[in-house]
Amino acid sequence: MNIISSLNFNKLFIHQLFEMADNFKKNNNQIKNVLQGKILINAFFEPSTRTSTSFECAMYRLGGNVISFRDINSSTQKGETFEDTIKTLSTFADVMVLRHPDKHKIQNAITCSSIPIINGGNGNGEHPSQALLDLYSIYYKFGVNFKTKSILFVGDVKNSRTIHSLLNLIHLYPQMKIYFLPYKNLEPSEDMIQKISEFHKQDYSSIVQKWENINYSLFDVVYCTRLQKERTKENNNIFIIDNRFVNKLKQDCIIMHPLPRNEELKTEIDDNPRCFYFIQMECGIYIRMALLNYILNNGK
Ligand code: NCD
Repeated sequence: MNIISSLNFNKLFIHQLFEMADNFKKNNNQIKNVLQGKILINAFFEPSTRTSTSFECAMYRLGGNVISFRDINSSTQKGETFEDTIKTLSTFADVMVLRHPDKHKIQNAITCSSIPIINGGNGNGEHPSQALLDLYSIYYKFGVNFKTKSILFVGDVKNSRTIHSLLNLIHLYPQMKIYFLPYKNLEPSEDMIQKISEFHKQDYSSIVQKWENINYSLFDVVYCTRLQKERTKENNNIFIIDNRFVNKLKQDCIIMHPLPRNEELKTEIDDNPRCFYFIQMECGIYIRMALLNYILNNGK
């Protein structure tokens, strides 16, 4: 079972995973050895902090082991092909997390790997395990009512793979509502807006918000992203999320961010009761434990 796109998830799978993640969270210190003898290989061709280390943490918590591969000091520097590299790495482990700046390499990897691959971020494409942890975080905050919540995406909507993957999941819950506050020239595509108005029965013209007249009471979740500097030359119009902005939101609205943050999210929010990005990050461990257990133990 490869995890390439969040388009491949259905509600049954998601709820099974949430239940498993809840259990792992509750019995954190008691579960051991579920993945004893199994090896995860982290194959990263692009920088990472949370994705790589939280997969590592998840694997260790379940009694498994991890090999970390970084492109920068590997034989790719001697001219070895990507395909030979993946073939080699897949010989040494039971599951692979792959991150690559080229959106299309994930497809090449699948064809030459002998083990399941989890897409850990493919260029400006997708990041499906992040989408699972993001939706799990919303569920963690609001319980089963998460299915009726409204979410505002702020930032580089065009290039943010975490937004792309999360949108696919939200489309499974038609009562959820989606809004954007995008940076200039980094807006959602026509296709994205079309899908939202179709699946969620939202008025086409109200989906994209204007900074000057935001209706703060609409949102239960504000999901911020950084400008994807490595994927775009645009650098204008960064909206700064500060306490002035956040304090106008509903009391129980949460601020999420996949992190890393740059200047778009002020550190003063860390002390605001609506700050949720550190809890979100922690949710990532439990959902990744669930995902690894699902893949390596056939959902048991
Ligand atoms: C994100 C990513 O790599 O796509 N980070 C993450 O995995 N938590 C977000 C980003 O890089 O902006």
